[in-house]
Amino acid sequence: MPILNWLTREEDIKTASQAPYRLLEDVPELSYGESDTGNMLIQGDNLDALKALLPYYAGKVQCIFIDPPYNTRSAFEHYDDNLEHAQWLAMMYPRLELLREFLCEDGSIWITIDDNEGHYLKVITDEIFGRSNFVTNIVWQKSYTSNQTAKHISDTHDHLLLYAKSFDLLHLGKLPRTEEQISKFKNPDNDPRGPWKAENLSAGKFYSAGQFKIIGPTGLDFLPPRNRYWRCNEEQYKKWLDEGRITFGLSGTGRPMLKKYLHEMEDGLRANTWWKHEEFGSNKEASIDLKALFKDADEVFQTPKPEKLLQRIISLATQPGDLILDSFLGSATTTAVAHKMGRRYIGIEMGDQAITHCVPRVKKVIDGEQGGISKSVEWKGGGGFRFYRLGDPVFDESGHVSPGIRFSTLAAHLWFSETGHPLVGKAERPFLGEHDGTAYYLLFNGILGDKRPDGGNILTSRILAEIPSFDGPKIVFGEGCRMGAERLAQERITFRHIPYEIKAR
Ligand SMILES: C[S@@+](CC[C@H](N)C(=O)[O-])C[C@H]1O[C@@H](n2cnc3c(N)ncnc32)[C@H](O)[C@@H]1O
Repeated sequence: MPILNWLTREEDIKTASQAPYRLLEDVPELSYGESDTGNMLIQGDNLDALKALLPYYAGKVQCIFIDPPYNTRSAFEHYDDNLEHAQWLAMMYPRLELLREFLCEDGSIWITIDDNEGHYLKVITDEIFGRSNFVTNIVWQKSYTSNQTAKHISDTHDHLLLYAKSFDLLHLGKLPRTEEQISKFKNPDNDPRGPWKAENLSAGKFYSAGQFKIIGPTGLDFLPPRNRYWRCNEEQYKKWLDEGRITFGLSGTGRPMLKKYLHEMEDGLRANTWWKHEEFGSNKEASIDLKALFKDADEVFQTPKPEKLLQRIISLATQPGDLILDSFLGSATTTAVAHKMGRRYIGIEMGDQAITHCVPRVKKVIDGEQGGISKSVEWKGGGGFRFYRLGDPVFDESGHVSPGIRFSTLAAHLWFSETGHPLVGKAERPFLGEHDGTAYYLLFNGILGDKRPDGGNILTSRILAEIPSFDGPKIVFGEGCRMGAERLAQERITFRHIPYEIKAR
């Protein structure tokens, strides 16, 4: 497959695996509302934050939305959007690689971008997510006026790239019908079945049984128009006629049409790739809404996305309760909308806006603010989130476990690096679990109640008798082992020495 090359590509494709695992530190004074919702706002560089989250959330996210800096050569008040072209690719590549690991098998990632980097982005996302998992490039009308100061052509749309983790497993929802679409159903003849609209009874596809003559209520004859055929055979036509589903117009002299009733239509419509500002919001609408929320602020975030856009994406890609991730959170539009729509979320933002915008915005949501999409989802308030910052690395530069690392933290990292899956629940026992027929144990930090260097962190016959047995191969991580090779083989134990034999993926 052709791939994109740039000056530092060889280094950049190693960045994700070389980024250190760091701890996330809870900041209670910036958290708000119910504390056990699982909703997280994180301040920090998303490369480190994503790496810190992986052992817990790999494969668990249903929908990722990102709106990264577009590299527009602008210096916005809250972030700089002017990287050298290769630097932008170097920034995006490892982050996209990590993001892919978070998606569950039927999950999807949605990325907004413009012409500055959009076509380069498509090539690296094809490489990372797979060309066969590319779903579409949606055109979102971000602006409804032409900018007359544009040098050549005014830019009024963004691209919205959509990839599935696995194309065949993706099941997107439908969009609700708009008022305009509903208004096309009318009831001029007071049909007791309610509003309807007339659909063409003929089609262009050859259908041998669709060539019969229809006689209208006033005696007029109707044959299908030239090179067209009725969509039904004569028997089906008569059935529809008996059911009162065929209309010849109010005068009874028009061509036969089929009545399609509003109440029979499916709840929603399959989305298409043209997203108009009236339905999906615009940049201007987003800025007006954000200004209304931050009336007293000196500087309001300059590049927010409209809540309606996120509402549509979230309703297509997720169900209530699903987990959503945005690692370029900006002013927290994604988490505000996810919160109002009853989804769980993780939002990551490195700038001060994490505190000046994200925290107050989601707090207002919890307090029941009525801007953006609130009225359309009948938002009443409630819920909560916890705020985190990045803490120390789990492993120091020489690969040793950093001082102060807790048992459960090391357990989560070991389990993830061995199995590629997050550990379910908080590890509080040496037996971490079984994966693919192998059991994993961790002896660390005096988990068996003895913190002395010689205590429960060393594998001995006594310790082996204390830990839950497993009839199969076992991998035991510990700070030392006093069992001979023969005995280990007999017990089908592979001993791995902490820290030397831990692979920090
Ligand atoms: C275009 S804005 C996102 C706007 C957002 N969609 C909204 O509605 O407010 C991009 C954001 O990504 C943040 N960002 C850029 N690089 C980042 C990184 N490495 N880690 C975390 N955030 C980053 C910037 O600070 C900026 O706030």
